[in-house]
Formats: sequence, C-alpha cells, structure tokens
Amino acid sequence: MTSNAEWQRRSLASLWHPCTQMQRAAKVPPLPMVRGQGPWLFDAEGKRYFDALSSWWVNLFGHADARIGAAIKDQLDTLPHVMLAGCTHAPAVELAERLSARTGGALGHAFFASDGASAVEIALKMSFHHWRNRGLADKQEFVCLKQGYHGETLGALAVTDVKVFRDAYDPMLMRAHQVSSPDARQAGPGETAADVAARAVAEVQALFAQRADRIAAVIVEPLVQGAAGMAMHDVSYLRALRALCTRFDVHLIADEIAVGCGRTGTFFASEQALPTGVSDAERRTAWPDFITLSKGISGGFLPLSLVLSTDAVYAAFLDEDVARGFLHSHSYTGNALACRAALAVLDRFDQEDVLGRNAAQAQGLSQALAPVFNDPRVEHPRRCGMIWAFDVKAEHAGGNFAERFHLAGRRHELLIRPIGRTVYLMPPYVLDEALSPWLAARVQATLADVLDHPDADRTHQPPTA
Ligand SMILES: Cc1ncc(COP(=O)(O)O)c(C=O)c1O
Repeated sequence: MTSNAEWQRRSLASLWHPCTQMQRAAKVPPLPMVRGQGPWLFDAEGKRYFDALSSWWVNLFGHADARIGAAIKDQLDTLPHVMLAGCTHAPAVELAERLSARTGGALGHAFFASDGASAVEIALKMSFHHWRNRGLADKQEFVCLKQGYHGETLGALAVTDVKVFRDAYDPMLMRAHQVSSPDARQAGPGETAADVAARAVAEVQALFAQRADRIAAVIVEPLVQGAAGMAMHDVSYLRALRALCTRFDVHLIADEIAVGCGRTGTFFASEQALPTGVSDAERRTAWPDFITLSKGISGGFLPLSLVLSTDAVYAAFLDEDVARGFLHSHSYTGNALACRAALAVLDRFDQEDVLGRNAAQAQGLSQALAPVFNDPRVEHPRRCGMIWAFDVKAEHAGGNFAERFHLAGRRHELLIRPIGRTVYLMPPYVLDEALSPWLAARVQATLADVLDHPDADRTHQPPTA
C-alpha cells in the first residue's frame, strides 16, 4: 500500500493543484483519496472523510452511486463520444428535451460544453451576438453583481468579483458594470432581506435607465452567491430583476451552475421567482433568458455544462449567412458519457421525491446545528435548501481561519473548506437521521478546536517523506 505521505510527495512534485498556492500546499498537503462511497471519501491509509462540500458542489447522490455508474458503463460500451457538429446522439437530445420540459418549454434549446466557466462564456457570447444579429450592435456591455462568481476563464472572470481570483488578471479583462449585491447580511437594524433586495434593485434600475441601449445582459447567481461565502438573498430580487430586464430589453442570465439541480430546494433556483396563479404562457415569460448549468447535472461523475436559452434568442441566429450562427465549439461538447450521467441524475429527480426528501432531511440537520448556529461567536446563521452557512465573527476567527478550520476538520473526519470566515455545508443529498446529528456534532467539535485552542498549531504537518 502506498502511504498518504508518498502520494503527497509525488503529487507535490508533479501536480499544479487548482486554487492553491503551491508553496502553501507543502504545509497543507493534499489528501490522497483512493475511494469514494456515498458521502464518504477514503484516503490511502483507509481514513474516512465526510464530503461536506460535495467535492466542490458537484456530487448530488454520493460517490460511486451505482445507478449513475451503471448508466455510464452502458454508454461506454455503446457510444462514449462523437462530435456534435454534423452528428447528434440520443443522450444529448434527451437531456436537452428533458431540461427544456423542466422549464415548461420556456428555454427550448441547450448548448453543451464541459466546465461551468465555459457555459458562462457561451451565455455572454450568445447574448452579445443575439443583439448584434438583431441590429442592436451597441448592446455590448454586461452587468454583474458585487461578490459574484462565474468562473475563471477571461470572460467569466470579467463578470466575477472575488479579488483573490481576479486582481492579478484585471488588465486582461473586459470591463463590466458592477452593481450592489442583495446579500441579506447587509440588512441594517430593522431592515429585512427584502429591503436590502429593493435597494439593490433600485441601483440596477438607475443603471438601466441610463444605459440599457448599451447593455446586453445582467448575470446573477440566483438566491445564493456561492464563492462569495454563501451570500443569500431574498427572492424578490430575482423577480424585480426579471421585470427590469423585460422592461429595458436586457437579457437575464441565471448562473445556476452551483445552485441548480435541487440545491436550493427547487430543481432550478429560478423557479422560486416565478409567479403563481397565472397562465402557463405568462409563467413562461418570467424565466431567465439563459440558464447555465454544470456541477451537479452529471452527479459529480463527469465534466458537463450547458446553456439553456429561449426560443427568441435561438431564432435570432437563424440565417443563410453562416457567420450569423453561433459558431462556438469545444471538442467534447455534448459528450455522450456525461449526458448519460446527467440523464441518470434526472431519472432520480423524476422517479424519487428527491426535493421532498431533502426538505425533510434538511430540517433534521438544521435542528442538529442549532448549538453551532446559536454560538455567540457565530453570526449570520443561514440556510437555503441544502446549503447551510454561518460566519465566525471577525474578532474570534483569528488569522488564516479557513485553513485552520479545514485542517481541524480533517481530524474530525470532515472534508470541509470555509470561505474566509464563512463555514458552509453543501452535503450530497444523502442525509438521514443518523448522518445529520453526526455531521453537526463534528462541525461543532471542529469549531471548538479552532476557537477554543487557537494556539494549538497541530496543523502544519509537512509530508514526512
Ligand atoms: C456560480 C458559478 N458559476 C461558474 C462556476 C465555474 O464553474 P467551473 O469551476 O466548472 O468552471 C462556478 C464554480 O464554482 C460557480 O459557482
């Protein structure tokens, strides 16, 4: 058996890990994982870890889920991949059809890619090109939210507001308008989340009133700004944004890469902003113009992303002139294995009451987390669907909080990575009566370790070999 230390040594000698200062990685060596089962990951020495962040928010039904695995294996023996220009295949077609049906037909076409950031690039380009095709070539600008995150390729980074990811590359990026985040944590005394949302909306309205003729689209993470630290906002923000976009003829891009696939309690987070008690036709007009999906859609098995767009957007590209088409492509666009994995994910949603079960199980975890959420050193406890978060007050967090908490979590069988001083849980949809109290107790023990023994530096254990 190769030891953890040996894998760590080889990994550091050969890999450039993502989102990692590699000099620091020597002090916080990567965990060598050899096996996954349900919510558990097992390292090379057999130690288990609960995957409290669903491996960067991708894993929905646990690791090595048998049904998703079986679908991929079946596809593997049939048609693993074929290019999607000039060819088509059942998994891509069925996936596009079933996702469109989940929007009541409002978003009728799917364009595939592999990673989330690529889907964001596609949505931005599609919006830009749509206006150009319609003779509105001045509509070239984009609006994004403070604290927003949409990925790290250049276009996506240009509409991202996370300093540590963005600053070094700022001179390379297109300029975008940044408007206030509706983050409910900004509520002053006596204010509600809806008040914060209304303030943020007023800012968008003022911007649109001034320059909507130059603005192609606004991009938003509906309900939860993930990478900002699980910043949650009132649903009224999304409703008002939709109304403004319609009024001023600006596209609304809902980036559901992190929040889609049931994470916020509905399959699409955007569903929560739809009007009720209206006709189907009216409801269809309340969807975003674009939805980007990735991460959970393939269950954490294979890279897949896609952009859903309305028929109106799609129609603007139809012409005998090739150059008016959307000529974007990636070699693995619509990969059949990944699409089959996604179909298996949708089967789960169709055949089991995934959302109802999550809603019930979420109550259990919320109750179990009460001692943590009520800890006086903690502020802004919050939940949206299957996302729990709290902030450790600045005066208690101390330096390097996220890393210290992560390392303490390892000792308590948790794979957990706070963002700044925000601790969050985004577990796979496998919580039950036994796991929830266990998870909450481990979070509490980890917090106690970090806050009660801030000087106990058991963290920096470089690889021994
Ligand atoms: C909202 C959102 N958009 C885009 C992305 C980028 O996705 P990827 O990392 O697959 O490029 C992420 C990743 O965390 C995300 O949370």
